[in-house]
Amino acid sequence: MASNGGSNGYSSGTGTEKINTDIISLTRFLTEEQAKHKEATGDFTLLCHALQFSFKSIAYYIRRATLINLTGLAGSSNITGDDQKKLDVIGNDLFVAAMRGSGRCRAVVSEEEDEIIYFDDSPNARYVVACDPIDGSSNLDAGVSVGTIFGVFKLPDSVIGRKPTAEDLLMPGSELLAAGFTMYGASAQLVITMKGGSVNGFTLDNALGEFILTHPDMRIPKKRAIYSVNEGNSMYWTDKTKAYFESLKYPKEEGGKPYSSRYIGSMVADAYRTLLYGGIFAYPADKKSPKGKLRILYECAPMAMVMENAGGNAVDSNMARMLDIKPATIHDRSGIFMGSPEEMDKVLEAHK
Ligand code: AHG
Ligand code: MN
Ligand code: MN
Repeated sequence: MASNGGSNGYSSGTGTEKINTDIISLTRFLTEEQAKHKEATGDFTLLCHALQFSFKSIAYYIRRATLINLTGLAGSSNITGDDQKKLDVIGNDLFVAAMRGSGRCRAVVSEEEDEIIYFDDSPNARYVVACDPIDGSSNLDAGVSVGTIFGVFKLPDSVIGRKPTAEDLLMPGSELLAAGFTMYGASAQLVITMKGGSVNGFTLDNALGEFILTHPDMRIPKKRAIYSVNEGNSMYWTDKTKAYFESLKYPKEEGGKPYSSRYIGSMVADAYRTLLYGGIFAYPADKKSPKGKLRILYECAPMAMVMENAGGNAVDSNMARMLDIKPATIHDRSGIFMGSPEEMDKVLEAHK
């Protein structure tokens, strides 16, 4: 048999192996998405092309870091007080250059930049992108998975043609047009979602140089007995948070099994596992960090949007919907709990 005509995306070939000859690359996916929106100008598609190029570039340098002396500290620190790794700086520069070069981005908020970066060469650009270029950078030198987190906002008409102020950019996650992350692990995994849309996962094929749709319409499992939190902070937690995690480890029901603990220390990797396997990820606000550790614009809000669109849930330490939280400053922080819907019900119940 020569071929089935690609009706199911597979061509039988000569052997028994099924070779997919109808591959959906991210480029094709974006083109098809754009065609569904008659009003689309193509600007968002171009912005996404620049985003994916930055992810490929960052993936490339992470893979080569040990070989080309890119491990270790850069000798500087960012505004939130973290020592910058060389790859934090390179990742940020790659990301900012890609956004500038897209011609579709008006400004970038980055974890590694104290202030908003404006692209005055694109005065009428409609998009603003928030990013954590390398999330989990303390894991870099050990070759443990890290990631890039991004959130895309569309500026309202009232702002187009003038320089947006910080106030214009301090939007809650509910205003995000698109969000997602790329995890640099055994392979690079890109997860992206649009406002009110599904969540789709792509795997970078290094030989093709393309992100391939491998996880269409991702749905988080309804529950799973896995919790992911830095338990070393437990002495600082509130009594309710302590009681919640105790209840997972010491179930009250007769014969109840305790939860498994998994903590990588890269939010992207912990969140990606949570998305695939289910469970709960938390970085609660605590007595040491009353505002929490993770940053709203480029860590909490994009992840919350992915979780919600995949059927999960995300709240801050006051149990308010994460996507409703408006940051007070561009680097503002929040506590976060996110994950499977039934696990999140337990979180809400325990924090009443
Ligand atoms: P970043 O590397 O961008 O500063 O983010 C690190 C974050 C996040 O990835 C992770 O969930 C958390 O910090 C880990 O913090 P602890 O080391 O305090 O557990
Ligand atoms: Mn981070
Ligand atoms: Mn970072």
